[in-house]
Amino acid sequence: MGKIILTGDRPTGRLHLGHYVGSLRRRVELQNSGEYDEIYIMIADAQALTDNFDNPDKIRDNIIEVALDYLSAGLDPAKTNIFIQSAVPELTELTFYYSNLVTLSRLERNPTVKTEIQLRNFETSIPVGFLTYPISQTSDITAFKATTVPVGEDQLPMLEQAREIVRKFNATYGETLVEPQALLPDNKICSRLPGTDGKAKMSKSLGNCIYLSDTSEDVSKKVMSMFTDPNHLKVSDPGSLEGNTVFTYLDAFARDEHFEKYAPDYKNLDEMKEHYQRGGLGDVKVKRLLINVLEEELAPIRERRAQFQKDIPAVYEILKKGTEAARAKAGQTLDEVRAAMRINYFEDSELIKSQQEKFNSL
Ligand code: TRP
Repeated sequence: MGKIILTGDRPTGRLHLGHYVGSLRRRVELQNSGEYDEIYIMIADAQALTDNFDNPDKIRDNIIEVALDYLSAGLDPAKTNIFIQSAVPELTELTFYYSNLVTLSRLERNPTVKTEIQLRNFETSIPVGFLTYPISQTSDITAFKATTVPVGEDQLPMLEQAREIVRKFNATYGETLVEPQALLPDNKICSRLPGTDGKAKMSKSLGNCIYLSDTSEDVSKKVMSMFTDPNHLKVSDPGSLEGNTVFTYLDAFARDEHFEKYAPDYKNLDEMKEHYQRGGLGDVKVKRLLINVLEEELAPIRERRAQFQKDIPAVYEILKKGTEAARAKAGQTLDEVRAAMRINYFEDSELIKSQQEKFNSL
C-alpha cells in the first residue's frame, strides 16, 4: 500500500507565519522528499462554512488567497493535488454514511469541538453542521485512503475520532478504509508560534499576525513593534528570553549561516542569547537580525506570489485539475464503501442474478 498524504486549511483568511512553520513549510518538504505516492491538499471551504455559514463571501474570497499562499510557499501542482472541498461531493456522501457510526455524546466530547464551541459562543445553540464537522473531516481523510495527515497538535482529537470511525466501519462492513496517522510538527516552537504581541497564538482576530503575503515594509514594522522583555529598558540591562517573542521567532527561523551574514559578532543564536541575558545587547539589534532572517525566507515566497497573481485564471485551472484528481480518487473509495455497505445495487450483477434465481425457484 502506498503512502498518501491528505491535509488542508479552512479558507478564512490569508496564511501567516504560524501556518507556515506549523504546517506549510513541512508540507513542501514532504512533497519534495519523494516519499509519498499521492499528496492531496484541500481548501476546506465546506468546513469553514460550518461556522461561517452567514458569511459565504468571506470564504469565497479567501479560496484564492489560500491557493496563492500554497503555490508561493512551494506546493507544486505537478506533485500535489490542491483541491476545493465543496467541489468533491463524494465527501458529503461519505459523511452521511459515517454519521451512523458516531454518537452525539462522542461528538460533544471531542476536545477541539468543545473549545471551538466556547470560542464561538455556540453553547446554547450549536449548529448541527458544526458539531458534526469531525465526521466530515473523517470523510476528507478516508476518501483519499490517507496514511499520513500532517496537522497541528490541536487537530489530534480529530484524528482520534477519524481512527475510531475507520475501525467501526471496517468492523461493521469489512476491511475497507485506512486508519490514518497524524504527523505533528517536529518541534514545539513550530507547533505554536506566538503572535507578534507575545500572545499564545497568531490569530487574525487578535491582529498579531505576520502574513506570508505581507510586504517587506509590513514585516519590518511588525518586527520592530514586537513584544520582547518589558524589563529590558536600557541596552546595558540584562534581558530575559522567557516569553521574548523576537527570540522565539529566531528559534523558529534562524540558522547558523544567518549569523555569518547578518550578525557576524555571533557564531550562532546561543551566543547571541547569552549576550542578551548578560546585558549589553539592545532589542533593536536583535530585531534587525530577525527582519533579515524573515526576509530571506519570505522574499522568494513574495516573488512567486507576485507571479501567480498575474494569472488568476491559471490558478483556478490548477485548482480545477487538482479537484478532478481528488474526485477520481474519492469516487473509487466511495464505490468500495457502497459495495461494503451493500448499497451498490446497480453495480452488482450477482445480486440481480441471484434474486432472479430465487424468484424463479418459488
Ligand atoms: N480542521 C482543519 C483546520 O481547521 C482543516 C481540515 C479540514 C483538515 N479537513 C481536514 C485538516 C482533513 C486535516 C485533514 O485547520
